[in-house]
Amino acid sequence: MRSDFPFFRANPDIVYLDSAATSQKPQCVIDSMVDFMTKRNSNVGRSLYPISSEASALVAEAREKAARFINAKPEEIIFTEGTTQALNMVAASVCGTDAKGNIVITRMEHSSNHAPWLEACRRNGIELRLADVDADGILRAEAVTELIDDETIAVSVTGMSNVTGQVTDIGAICSHARRMGALSVVDAAQLVVHNTVDVRTIGCDFLAFSGHKIYGPMGTGVLFASGDSIGRLKPLTVGGGSVERDYSPKTGIHGFEAGTRNIAAIVALGQTFDYLKSNRNAIKNIEDDLSGYLFEKLSVIDGIRMITKSPSQICSFTTGLLGCYDIGAMLGKFGICIRTGSCCAYSLMDALGVQGVCRASVGPYNTKEEIDIFTERLSWVLRRCGGFR
Ligand SMILES: Cc1ncc(COP(=O)(O)O)c(C=O)c1O
Repeated sequence: MRSDFPFFRANPDIVYLDSAATSQKPQCVIDSMVDFMTKRNSNVGRSLYPISSEASALVAEAREKAARFINAKPEEIIFTEGTTQALNMVAASVCGTDAKGNIVITRMEHSSNHAPWLEACRRNGIELRLADVDADGILRAEAVTELIDDETIAVSVTGMSNVTGQVTDIGAICSHARRMGALSVVDAAQLVVHNTVDVRTIGCDFLAFSGHKIYGPMGTGVLFASGDSIGRLKPLTVGGGSVERDYSPKTGIHGFEAGTRNIAAIVALGQTFDYLKSNRNAIKNIEDDLSGYLFEKLSVIDGIRMITKSPSQICSFTTGLLGCYDIGAMLGKFGICIRTGSCCAYSLMDALGVQGVCRASVGPYNTKEEIDIFTERLSWVLRRCGGFR
């Protein structure tokens, strides 16, 4: 699949192992953006001349594809700028000034699923409860469900950790939340990249993900709001296209998409769903193979403490005396790109007792040879610079 991604032709000497931060883009997605801006550029939902109607139809098509991708209905799909914006919208909506009770999140959350809740809870005097991870950084469903009581307004949990790669039991958490009368929210930013996601099976009220992590354009994202729960959402922004003649917000999804959006990117996101649909099995097979290989190769390097406990597309570790930033900078000089630092998961870093980690993450365009280059260079750096405690 590597040949689908022109980034690697442009950068033949780069070993890109940072797909959990952002993925590279296939040619068809890039072409789709260029095609829209070259041939069809016009605003949507406003005018009735042919190319504007065509652009509106392309956005509607992208919405249908997004809905099919997670087994939702098009009228449950709100286009956002990404996971962060979506989760801010949900947190601000359900923790309004009239809300009373508590919110449950976990220590495993990315800042984008922690800070919005913390902020909304602080503003409105709502209690924020944090479910703990165990000593290995693993989140058990019971650690979350035992914090939910009849005062819980919402539970918001990641579907896959961006640090350990753990896929959490969100089905169990969401069904417990429903039984207790609480809303359930899933941060699926990493989950959708590597797993088939069905919002009906999960049973969540809200689910958010970003386009740029699934080989789509930056600045795009999806917020799923179930038909039963969309009424609980309040728009973060209002304006053109999102209000009625009397300036009241439109009902349904269109009340949440104010102003002119990045239409070229949304259309290209539609193309991304096509790409994923055609290649899902191939992606899974390649990634399973690479995940096992990466885990195995890292686990045997002297001086490494594995933070990720079993093979995953996302593999984090620490390196004794050498800090993660030293490792990241040195590997960077060899053209090897990994993520270093807190990975925006401060609470999890505290729970693990580390300042930061090194994180290597794979995509379908990576190869075993690249993993060899990375692990050989890493071993060399540790040997030369004394990574051992
Ligand atoms: C688990 C998780 N949630 C949320 C986000 C935020 O996504 P975005 O920056 O695309 O809004 C990320 C990004 O790394 C993530 O890994």
